[in-house]
Amino acid sequence: MHAVPHADRLSLDGSWRFQLLPRPDAEPTSRWGEITVPGCWTMQPAGQAAGDLPQYTNVQMPFDLRPPHPPADNPTGIYERSFELPESWAGRRVVLHAGAAESVLIVEINGQELGISKDSHLAAEFDVTDAVVPGDNSVRLTVVKWSDATYVEDQDQWWHGGLTRSVFLYATGRVFIADIRSIGGLAEDLSTGTLQLDVRVGFEGVDPEAGWRLESAIGGGLGVDLRAGVPGIEPLEWPTSGPEHELMVRHIVGGDQAVAGEEGRWADLSRRLAPPREGSVGWRIDIPRVRPWSAEVPSLYPLAVRLLAPDGTIAEEVALRIGFRRVEVIERDLLLNGRRILLRGVNRHDFDQLTGRAISVASMRADLVQMKQFGFNAVRTSHYPNDPAFLDLTDELGLFVIEEADIESHAFQSTLCDDSRYLNAWMTRVSRMVERDKNHPSVILWSLGNESGYGSNHDAAAAWVRRSDPSRPLHYEGAIRFDWSSDQGVTDITCPMYPAISAIVAHARSGIQRRPLIMCEYSHAMGNSNGTLAEYWDAIESTPGLQGGFIWEWWDHGLVQDRPDGRTRWAYGGDFGDEPNDGNFCIDGLVWPDRTPKPALWEHKQLAAPVVVSAEPTSLERGSVQVRNRQAWRDVGWLRARWELTRGGEVVGSGDVSLPAVGPGDQAPADLVGWSPPPSGDGRDAWLTIRFAAARDEAWAPMGFEVCWAQLPVWLGRAHGFGTPIPHAEVTGPPIVDADGELQHPILAEPPRLALWRAPTDNDRIGGMAEVWQTQGLDRLQRRLVGIEHPEGLIAVRWEVRTGAGLSIRHSQFFSTWPGGGFSVGEEVVIPPELTDLARVGTVLEFVPGLEQVAWFGRGPHETYPDRKRGGAVGRWQSTVTDLHVPYIRPQENAGHADVRWLELTDGRPDGHSRGIRLSTDEPLQVSASHFRATDLAAATHDGELVARPTTIVHLDAAHRGLGTASCGPDTLPEYIVGPGMYRWQWYLQPLGVG
Ligand code: GAL
Ligand code: MG
Repeated sequence: MHAVPHADRLSLDGSWRFQLLPRPDAEPTSRWGEITVPGCWTMQPAGQAAGDLPQYTNVQMPFDLRPPHPPADNPTGIYERSFELPESWAGRRVVLHAGAAESVLIVEINGQELGISKDSHLAAEFDVTDAVVPGDNSVRLTVVKWSDATYVEDQDQWWHGGLTRSVFLYATGRVFIADIRSIGGLAEDLSTGTLQLDVRVGFEGVDPEAGWRLESAIGGGLGVDLRAGVPGIEPLEWPTSGPEHELMVRHIVGGDQAVAGEEGRWADLSRRLAPPREGSVGWRIDIPRVRPWSAEVPSLYPLAVRLLAPDGTIAEEVALRIGFRRVEVIERDLLLNGRRILLRGVNRHDFDQLTGRAISVASMRADLVQMKQFGFNAVRTSHYPNDPAFLDLTDELGLFVIEEADIESHAFQSTLCDDSRYLNAWMTRVSRMVERDKNHPSVILWSLGNESGYGSNHDAAAAWVRRSDPSRPLHYEGAIRFDWSSDQGVTDITCPMYPAISAIVAHARSGIQRRPLIMCEYSHAMGNSNGTLAEYWDAIESTPGLQGGFIWEWWDHGLVQDRPDGRTRWAYGGDFGDEPNDGNFCIDGLVWPDRTPKPALWEHKQLAAPVVVSAEPTSLERGSVQVRNRQAWRDVGWLRARWELTRGGEVVGSGDVSLPAVGPGDQAPADLVGWSPPPSGDGRDAWLTIRFAAARDEAWAPMGFEVCWAQLPVWLGRAHGFGTPIPHAEVTGPPIVDADGELQHPILAEPPRLALWRAPTDNDRIGGMAEVWQTQGLDRLQRRLVGIEHPEGLIAVRWEVRTGAGLSIRHSQFFSTWPGGGFSVGEEVVIPPELTDLARVGTVLEFVPGLEQVAWFGRGPHETYPDRKRGGAVGRWQSTVTDLHVPYIRPQENAGHADVRWLELTDGRPDGHSRGIRLSTDEPLQVSASHFRATDLAAATHDGELVARPTTIVHLDAAHRGLGTASCGPDTLPEYIVGPGMYRWQWYLQPLGVG
């Protein structure tokens, strides 16, 4: 493996003849279909028709065998096509490059078998010079799905088969640039670039003759030119007698001391004893005043390497880019260019909803651009190397990369890592990755793989990397899994998975922390999730020793599947009839399979804001706020900002913010231009919102793109929309409660009831809460009227609510009517001690059909929950009930909005004719409006199965449980648990429009 992008290529991508055989030893038939390369056969008609469909498993292997045995039924794809050898390639060295084959690749050219390769996520290259002929040639690539190697490719993702990355031929001369190592560093002064440039020249089929030369130039204003002769075969001169022999013996026997006074002669002799390696040229140079590379400012310089033949003609020329940066682990800090930085990372798998695992460069770029737009500065290539184009993009756009080797032996993690039969797999997978990608400045850590235990195979691979590329620290979770302070040699980072916040903080304060703590995975984004992300970041930002982590994960791996009814859906494990499978555990990303951001992604974006704003009340009064620049290398010159003041959600003032030049890590006051403070005391909230946008085009965002916002309360008033509560004296109108205690109102399809349950989220279900709720019968509440009373002009309705398991709960509703058909409801419930952990305590009501338009004042515009709400700004938002639905692929609780003061539902008819209601509250509540009841959501397995009700179901929750991340990792924090005790809340319903 090498890092040279040879330019003289012939692409073999496109349509190939194809047939899928049931086993590698089955005879090909005469029936050929067509298939697209790159592509997965499991996602194309030719493979699917032959019966091989995607299968999803997490830890368990797809078949019930033990290493190293593959199953006898082993889909085997035969790919054939012809190609015309370019005339200009005559006499040249020709190499076949297969970007990735899942999982065994066998190569034949013109009927001649040339080789075999394994590793589904790295390229294989075969020298085919002697097999190709002028003119027409045929190539057959046989891809076998399962092998011994499958046991080290047991990553949590779909199993596919096929040639998933590009296939091409390239040609070079017989003497060619075989490899380039160009690792840019930074000297202690953090401004002098250091370059380690090693070029290896290959002599294929010819003797390494003298006279070849290498030239290299670094552009971008650095003006570095390097030249050297390429050493040919230089004989080893081993003196056998005479003074040189004597000197040599003296040195061997006596070491350095013995040659004192003869250093010059000894240096000369030792060079001849170890002559330069044939074909290898190396330079170590210092370049003053370089612009360092970082994720914030990804400065790259062009590097050209030319190979010149003895006659002076250019034999080959290669263009690369280099970046200068310094990666160090010093005690418990990971330093980038001398600074302790926080990694705001995400794990990314190769994924495409239509092609499975064949990814275009455009798709990779779109992922990375979106990551940048949502505040990520780092990505882990979980759990294998990506296409090399991916790293070109991370270099260019600016993302720190943990590059991971293609090793996961999850189902056999305690054994294979110590099994010497797999040593070669470990070594080649790690070393080939390093050889291929060593020149990318964005790669800051090498990862030895994922979930493969810890054994001698790791030690061997780590030792190889330490010697080969000392410029980068190592990362491997398995080595610290059972002891975060363990003494081992394979990881320089303590990189646990899914630790609790309390655990990482305790470790950092323990005094025994040995390495930087960066979570390789945390905050599992399955379904409606990522609760407490803000608390993770509060801890990381305030605790020395903690340096961030990588959210699990970027994609929801839902594959587009055609349904018999002509519709499509996003399929997960089991949907293709795949057995065994792990269900929807692969639906755990921050984006849907079409890259639409899930609400949690907005939370991350806000938490990652490069600038934050604060203000003392007195300076705010004067229109001055404090802007803190949280970037490590950039000032705020690339941003511009505007302020907006709202009163009860209405904009009452706005203007520019005059941003001072705030350097990295600094803060400074900034003026709100045109500010006048709002008068206090009209009972409505006043909020200042400052929005920061890109002041010019960035590689990852156009000018004007909103980078982040900050919000400060100016005055907090009474929350509800009516100013002050209506005194009882003003209550008018007849009682609206019937003899059964049920509230009657023309706008209501169902009277307001107590709700204690939500459609379980994936976290609720996998974390075990849903089962407890089910056992307690919280999803099946019945109520019995205890009595109706009339204290102080109110109607008090007393209920006994019984859960499906027979637990009795006291609930009271206090109704009073208002002029114009409105009413207020006070609610009181006593949750018994047995119910220690509820989904919610609140009211559910259902409105008559037609109320589709929705507006609210609270957090928005996207979905927010008590433990995932910092990314939602308080404001006045509007939408439709249909659009508020958040289509989690497996339906679950959704569409919640935190801190809501009021919500309006109307039918959207033109002004003056519209009909609707306004619901308002005394204290901000968690509110949702939906066309689905909780039971509807809980009963469906895929979003497309849901049938919208014409009515509008509204939940007003006095308390709503946090989301947490218990599908893989910690549950929410204790403060977000809804437990026993007395709950009281108050809400108001006011008809709008025609009364
Ligand atoms: C981790 C694993 C990931 C994924 C995740 C759960 O243990 O490294 O590959 O399985 O859990 O979604
Ligand atoms: Mg796993």
